[in-house]
Amino acid sequence: MRKKIIAGNWKMNKTVGDAVALVEGLKMDLAQGTDVEVVVCPPFTALQAVGEKLTNTQIKLGAQNMSSEDDGAYTGEISHTMLKDLFVKYVILGHSERRQYYKETDFWVNKKVKKALEKNLRPIVCVGEKLEDREAGNTEKVVEAQVRGSLADVTAEQFENVVIAYEPVWAIGTGKTATSAQAQEVHAFIRGILRDMTGEKAANGLRIQYGGSMKASNAKDLLSQPDIDGGLIGGAALDARSFIDIVKAGM
Ligand code: PGA
Repeated sequence: MRKKIIAGNWKMNKTVGDAVALVEGLKMDLAQGTDVEVVVCPPFTALQAVGEKLTNTQIKLGAQNMSSEDDGAYTGEISHTMLKDLFVKYVILGHSERRQYYKETDFWVNKKVKKALEKNLRPIVCVGEKLEDREAGNTEKVVEAQVRGSLADVTAEQFENVVIAYEPVWAIGTGKTATSAQAQEVHAFIRGILRDMTGEKAANGLRIQYGGSMKASNAKDLLSQPDIDGGLIGGAALDARSFIDIVKAGM
């Protein structure tokens, strides 16, 4: 069965000192490992310090973005080599904030996804519709284009290392969560697309997280849906207690 995966996306929050304090709080309950795989994704500047604190724990380190290039003249970018040097295992790619504010398209997300997989980093690939898409009845069309575009040319073997995060844009940071039925419907739809892209076995093994105002009070309901295999948590991951409670809801 699919092991649930709960990842904290700290976004552009936490100085090194604040990040270390947060991870110390998480370690009290989560260091020894649980039935749930736990990942924290601090900003680049705190990766090293947080990674050091995670030594000999079961909590894994993730980054929030990565360059599609190997090295060279790409001012402001961070490469796979740099991330792996800090023991990063996961990388969030194609987050809706990057698609919206930095104009990342499926073409670029796909380049990054392929690079990450080629270099043995596990991508958490984000997809999700905007409010206007949902209201116009275009949720499936938009999500399907993102899934197919972001994961184009990924091989069946590589699919085993992919995590997808379904994050309806209208639910991110707004306090509006998709109902568990709404989320489950899209998750099942995504799994159907994956079946078509890569076959039954890989599609059944691939984990699909839900993201968008997930918190301790709604996590259990969401995580009990058959195709919801974890969560990508923003706001509620910034406080140790609330993040731990979400992880516990997934056990
Ligand atoms: P949120 O963010 O939990 O604050 O809605 C989720 C995300 O953007 O990954």
